[in-house]
Formats: sequence, structure tokens, C-alpha cells
Amino acid sequence: MSFSPAWLALREPADSAARNQEVLAACAQHFAGRADIKVCDLGAGTGSSLRAFAELLPPTQHWTLVDHDAGNLAAARAALAAWADEATDSSQLVLKHGGKTITVQTTVRDFAQAPVCWPETTDLVTASALFDLASAPWIARFTAALCAQKIPLLATLTANETITAVPSHPLDTKVIAAFHAHQTSDKGFGPSAGAQATAILEQSLKAGGYTLTTGDSPWRLAPSELLRATTEGMAAAVSETKAVAADDLAAWLNHQREKTSQLTIGHRDVFARP
Ligand SMILES: C[S@@+](CC[C@H](N)C(=O)[O-])C[C@H]1O[C@@H](n2cnc3c(N)ncnc32)[C@H](O)[C@@H]1O
Repeated sequence: MSFSPAWLALREPADSAARNQEVLAACAQHFAGRADIKVCDLGAGTGSSLRAFAELLPPTQHWTLVDHDAGNLAAARAALAAWADEATDSSQLVLKHGGKTITVQTTVRDFAQAPVCWPETTDLVTASALFDLASAPWIARFTAALCAQKIPLLATLTANETITAVPSHPLDTKVIAAFHAHQTSDKGFGPSAGAQATAILEQSLKAGGYTLTTGDSPWRLAPSELLRATTEGMAAAVSETKAVAADDLAAWLNHQREKTSQLTIGHRDVFARP
């Protein structure tokens, strides 16, 4: 499954507004007072986790961005250089931003078979909008490895079950149920945990002895390009399930395009430490 840099750029401002401030503060508090930190971001895309989390973390940061999509990681280097106050890009990217000095390495790797893809000395694993793509067994293997190494995790924007459009449409329940069913299709990890991912992740981390700070991080979208792209993406996914007649689905999508004044898409964030 691919996520284009254009789609990731479209969602980044909404992601940034949605992340749960209590969860972010718990992460910042945990690392407060340290001079430096080594972070590994899984499913890094174009680097939005780094842009979102850098301000929470110590003055000197070493990031490893891991993704199987080489195009996204190339876009990440360019986007991070543009975001920084100063940037030099040779074998590793060195950024200055908001008083932080940040070195960045990018690693093209598919971690579906082997979740442990972080460097040995990693202090913090991060991920945004990743775990709902993964399968329940993958999440269990990931958390078992993380907990065995006692590495904290900051995971944001894992999609949950909440999808609410205002005003409602008579087909909402049917369309949303079909969308949730589509969310459990295989995204490369085996059948996806989809909307159950947050519960599975949180339970596994607790079972591994971690202390969690959790919170909701919904998108609350007003009419916008992102709202339109989101409902069109939902309709395309639902159409693949064949659970809703094509005419009905077209009528539902038309209603979303013309009438929806607010679309809420639920997510959950967690900071977990040993
Ligand atoms: C929904 S995007 C999120 C990207 C970024 N974290 C963000 O919030 O903008 C999921 C990312 O995970 C990557 N990904 C999905 N499956 C992967 C796998 N098996 N191995 C490595 N990366 C993967 C995709 O290429 C994509 O960049």
C-alpha cells in the first residue's frame, strides 16, 4: 500500500492540530533535562513525526527515519531541509530548527516481517498513523521486542472507530461499517488490526509492564480539500467491499461533498514508558 507525499502533506496540518497535548507533554516530561536523544520513527513517510516532536525533545537529536517507500524518504529529506532554519545534506542530513540540532538518517526498509528495525542504542521509538495498518500479531511482536529492550514509545494518530459526519445521512451506518471492514484488509502485515489497533497496542504495552499516558486525537474537519479527499477515499474503499450498491454509494458521496459541515475522524495517541 502506498501513501503519496501529496496525501501526507495534505493531512499534516490536521495531524498537527489533532495530536493530544497531554500525551505529548508526558513524552516531553520524560526526557526533560537530557542533553541529547536517539529517536527512531517507524513508517516515517515524509518526516512529519520529526517536525511534530522535535520541539518536545532535548537540544541535540539523532533521528533514524524508517520506511519501505524510498520516494517518501527522499521527499522527507527535502521537506525537512525546507522546514529547518538551516540544513546541510551530505551522507546525513543536519538540521537546525528552533534551537535544536537534529541529525537525520533515512533507512529504506520493509519492517512487516521484522518489527525490530531501530538502532541498538535508540532512546525513543515513534510512529504516526501506522499501527492501524499493522496486524494484531505484528503489534504483539513489536511491543514484546520494545518492552524487552525497555524503550519508550510515542505513537500518535492511530485510527479508531469514530467516524461522524454532520449532517448525518441514512446510509452512514452501512457505509461506515463497510469502511471499517475494508480497514481490516491486508496492508502488508497480514489482516490489519484497523480500528482495534489502539486497544491492542495499549493492552500489549500494559502487559509488558509499561506506564501509559493516552488520549484521543480526532480530526475535526470543516469543508476543505482534506475533508473531500477523506470522504472520496472512504467511498473508494467501500466500493471495493461491494457492501453498498453503487447508486447508493454515489448518493452518499454526493451528500458528503455538498452538505457535510463537519467530519470527525477518531484517532488515539499514546506515550508509553517502561
Ligand atoms: C499513513 S502513512 C504515515 C506517514 C507518516 N508517519 C505521517 O504521519 O505522515 C504510513 C507510512 O508507513 C509506511 N509503511 C507502511 N507499511 C510499511 C512497512 N511494511 N514497512 C515500512 N514502512 C511501511 C508507508 O510507506 C507510509 O509512509
